[in-house]
Amino acid sequence: MTTPSAPPAPNAPFGSVFASTMVVAGWSDGEWEEPRLGPVEPFSLHPATHVLHYGSACFEGLKAHRGTDGVVRVFRLDAHVRRMRTSAEILMLPVPPAEMLTRMVLDVVAACLDEVPAAPGSLYLRPTLIGTVPNIGAAAVPSTRALLYVIASPVGDYFAGGVRPLKLALETVRPRTTPQFGMVKSGANYVMALGPTMRAKQELGADQVLFAPGGIIQETGAANFLMIDPHHVITPALNEAFLHGVTRDSVLTLAADLGYEVDQRDKLTVDDLVDWASHNDAEAALSGTAAVLAAVGTLVLDGEELAVGTGGVGDHTLRLRKALTDLHIGETDDPHGWLTPVTSG
Ligand SMILES: Cc1ncc(COP(=O)(O)O)c(C=O)c1O
Repeated sequence: MTTPSAPPAPNAPFGSVFASTMVVAGWSDGEWEEPRLGPVEPFSLHPATHVLHYGSACFEGLKAHRGTDGVVRVFRLDAHVRRMRTSAEILMLPVPPAEMLTRMVLDVVAACLDEVPAAPGSLYLRPTLIGTVPNIGAAAVPSTRALLYVIASPVGDYFAGGVRPLKLALETVRPRTTPQFGMVKSGANYVMALGPTMRAKQELGADQVLFAPGGIIQETGAANFLMIDPHHVITPALNEAFLHGVTRDSVLTLAADLGYEVDQRDKLTVDDLVDWASHNDAEAALSGTAAVLAAVGTLVLDGEELAVGTGGVGDHTLRLRKALTDLHIGETDDPHGWLTPVTSG
């Protein structure tokens, strides 16, 4: 059964308003508890809790969209569950069984169906896994207890101002994070990118930093990077240094479906980008669950501003963005089986 109500997306900043229900499952002695649904409320942690000292945490970010037909569908749940399990494994946290994590996400969406905003809003879902053993001596051992939970947040646009061309500052010295952990969705990675990002915002008026240590392009603090023109979509090939975005994979797949030539380069360089940006039909974009597909209009390199193509929001970026958002809301077929409809049960 679907619900007819569709609240508007909140005006509050992305992720700062929460849906009513969460689901929680503890892990200890090698066993997961039965997940419990309940109201979103604070939980208490001992001051010695592992995650607070040794960073034993990973999370996911995915969305449930309300279709134009009123049906709520979760986008690419399998891919997000897979990535969370990879993150947990790399961080020596207990790996949640795929069926359990899948069920937890779907149960929260079902409990919050009335709270899923109409498009372009959506319900952002945040599965989180933390090490909870109270032991400040456990620096070199994994946590023997953990907590897995899923919260949800009705959201609108991630970038204030709607669809507008973003300004990216290029950081050619520092990586976003410790390179071999870039593919892990862990809080520590985000806090490492924060200093350079804040400085670029304040000093250069940039929206984001594109990390390209040694001149090799990685990604921004919260999205993957793509170069687009009327015939091509070009992006760095997957490696350990950056997050393997589900939106990146979705855009590349849709681009190939639409006849673009998809080029995943082992080394995409800042020189390649500068050369690219000088062509009139060049476009660039950021892909991510939160960012969707956001156009990049300007680059800042060594204090100089360069327009990407004409510096506006490119037609091909908009075309690919629409292919993705039409799929989200059930306006087009789902040939790749990416959508999971959710009913109130
Ligand atoms: C660092 C980083 N890179 C890339 C992405 C894009 O990933 P996805 O498309 O799976 O949301 C995100 C998204 O949250 C991110 O935080």
